[in-house]
Amino acid sequence: MKKLIAGNWKMNGSLTANEALLLALGQGLERVPAGSLHCDVAVCVPAPYLAQVQALKASQPALSGIELGAQDVSAHDAGAYTGEVSAAMLKDLGCRYVIVGHSERRQYHFETDALVAEKAGAVLASGMTPIVCIGETLIEREAGHTEEVIKRQLAAVISANGHRISEIVLAYEPVWAIGTGRSASPPQAQAVHAVLRAGLEAVTDLFARVKILYGGSMNAANAASLLAQPDIDGGLIGGASLKAHDFLTIIAAAQV
Ligand code: 13P
Repeated sequence: MKKLIAGNWKMNGSLTANEALLLALGQGLERVPAGSLHCDVAVCVPAPYLAQVQALKASQPALSGIELGAQDVSAHDAGAYTGEVSAAMLKDLGCRYVIVGHSERRQYHFETDALVAEKAGAVLASGMTPIVCIGETLIEREAGHTEEVIKRQLAAVISANGHRISEIVLAYEPVWAIGTGRSASPPQAQAVHAVLRAGLEAVTDLFARVKILYGGSMNAANAASLLAQPDIDGGLIGGASLKAHDFLTIIAAAQV
């Protein structure tokens, strides 16, 4: 299956910095001969910059291969929810992907498994692809609860979305690996991805086509070995997605 390399810019950027980063990515992608980019690429940008990136994509052919994504969404369709952004609005701005359930949302904004599952449903209903993040904390891993935690998080998304589970992208992001420079080792990540694949197999015949991304200190140096694992179908990249050279190196590592 085609891998997906998605950048999560988190709360970083400015009009000037975004344009410079995207133009550098476009220049790098232009060097890839036409038709030979063998992975999907996306950038998930802060909501206020979605329109800027949409406009840049429209004016720069080199950026046409980069899909646009958002980092969060409201579970509600519309109405009196001050500060929230609906799935329909994200779709309007050209989003193809929406990250839901990032551990930073779960941790700092108290998002529950049920809310994350509902958000995934809102994204699907608007014709976009949710990138559903799951992962254990260090305390949970050290207590031997990794499988239990990720199965619980996945089960909530399955129970709320039924057969549409085959249309989501999953991202395994161990919380202890995010922004720490301490990535999961390839075998550690693969072991969890295999559990997730088995969990999907139990509920859908289309389990093999669900992309399961790894995220957590993926960088230019470790991407190739992580992406070589049989159940790692791409990466969700934070810090390294803000540096054009590093992000392009990760994209190149996903070409096989
Ligand atoms: P880092 O790549 O900065 O560790 O962040 C990973 C992440 O949280 C992507 O969503």
